[in-house]
Amino acid sequence: MKVSLTVNGEPVSASCEPRRTLADFLRHDLGYTGVHVGCEHGVCGSCTVTVDGATARSCCMLAVQAEGMAIITIEGLAAGGELDPLQKAFREHHGLQCGFCTPGMLATAHELLRDDPDPTDAEIRAAISGNLCRCTGYQFIVDAVKAAARDRRAQPTHRCESAVNRPAT
Ligand code: FES
Ligand code: FES
Repeated sequence: MKVSLTVNGEPVSASCEPRRTLADFLRHDLGYTGVHVGCEHGVCGSCTVTVDGATARSCCMLAVQAEGMAIITIEGLAAGGELDPLQKAFREHHGLQCGFCTPGMLATAHELLRDDPDPTDAEIRAAISGNLCRCTGYQFIVDAVKAAARDRRAQPTHRCESAVNRPAT
């Protein structure tokens, strides 16, 4: 089947079998290798991307279900070769080590900060509770999200907000 959708603002289309997951379609067929698959059962969150403005497990969606939708992967967060503030915060506050969970963590954190510009530690921990990290102990991720939230409040128009903005309804 042919699937046509938008990835990181670019219209793309490719053929795939109806059973192809969105994760495999993005990573293997379209080359967005920032999409990581861990458990393939909707448990670990590593495959999380933004679908029409809301985070979704791309291992639990079929590519054909994303027909006509707008997807944001981690490749779409940096603009003009510049990391966005949330990505910088993860780097500066040691929010990533092996980096395997990072794309899903970033998608989740972007959604959180879009909806809640000043989350508490507990709210950050609740937001990322569906994303498993084997490396960081989570405190550094919480620190990074808090730092990015401060930066976002100081610069409310930066890409952290615009990249995952929900489409107008
Ligand atoms: S790979 Fe999708 S939730 Fe684990
Ligand atoms: S940084 Fe390694 S799994 Fe999170």
